[in-house]
Amino acid sequence: MDNIEKIKDDALAELRNASETEEIRALSVRYLGRKGVITQFLRNISGLPAKERPAAGKRANEVKKELDAAFSAAAELLAARKTSGDQGIDVSLPGRTVPRGYLHPLTQVTREICEIFVRMGFDIAEGPEVEKDYYNFEALNIPKDHPARDMQDTFYVSDNIVLRTQTSPMQVRTMEKQPPPVRIISPGKVYRCDSDITHTPMFSQVEGLLVDRNVSFGDLKGTLTAFVHRMFDEDTKLRFRPSFFPFTEPSAEVDIQCIMCRGKGCRVCSHSGWLEILGSGMVHPAVFENVGYDTSRYSGFAFGMGVERIAMLKYSIDDIRKFFDNDLRFLRQF
Ligand code: DAH
Repeated sequence: MDNIEKIKDDALAELRNASETEEIRALSVRYLGRKGVITQFLRNISGLPAKERPAAGKRANEVKKELDAAFSAAAELLAARKTSGDQGIDVSLPGRTVPRGYLHPLTQVTREICEIFVRMGFDIAEGPEVEKDYYNFEALNIPKDHPARDMQDTFYVSDNIVLRTQTSPMQVRTMEKQPPPVRIISPGKVYRCDSDITHTPMFSQVEGLLVDRNVSFGDLKGTLTAFVHRMFDEDTKLRFRPSFFPFTEPSAEVDIQCIMCRGKGCRVCSHSGWLEILGSGMVHPAVFENVGYDTSRYSGFAFGMGVERIAMLKYSIDDIRKFFDNDLRFLRQF
């Protein structure tokens, strides 16, 4: 009995040192072959006392099976290593899954904004990021040397071509192509030479324009109120503050009650209780004249908002640059 266990241990020890298929095959012949060690052992059983024979035979046959299985497994593993280029690749490991992509938070927020306006009947109009000075400024009542140009640190491509600083040029491009009524929303990237924790040289805006007969400031208020209630929540308060834009008259900036402190005053709203979210106003007659619209028959309103700003408020993000660092730990949260 001790003999058979020793045979088994020796065989396994030798197998551990075998690194070639040939060696394994030789071991198999030497231990399990017709003239092998185990066969020899079985033959010698007849020389044992009669009462020891059955147990010895049974154990010898078990060991034979165990060794056979061990030799086959070792041979298989060796063959698998060979096919995987001999680099010690474990082919039995599960495969790597391809990570799933997500929409960028700014894409999500842009779509959400657009969807709200599309449900109110606005069409989407997209346009070029490399824009004529005419559309970005002049047609919007911002002539050369107008101080309002200083507000928007412009990247000039040439004397008359700029990277658009706002999505407002799409107002003019749209009105040039079609008579009233007009109801469009225009999302897209804009560029300004500016960079700090609330400004990046590229950012996103959504522009809106509605022109028809009898459009009033009340329509503007109603439309933007409906938008804010959908985007934030139903009881968010709005405030229209007098302002100036060359292409609207009158103009207003819209604030919403601070969504962090509910108007009580906190760091986010600089203790004012209010957060500015967009610019708006009634389309200036000079803009209508530039596109040949009859100012005695038509009136309209326009507005423009920064997508990053809205996303930052909605998700309490304190640094605009996080949108563009592409740190997956940040992006995966949305
Ligand atoms: N274009 C303006 C800006 O970038 C935002 C704006 C203000 C757009 C008033 C408008 C508007 O359409 O009526 O600061």
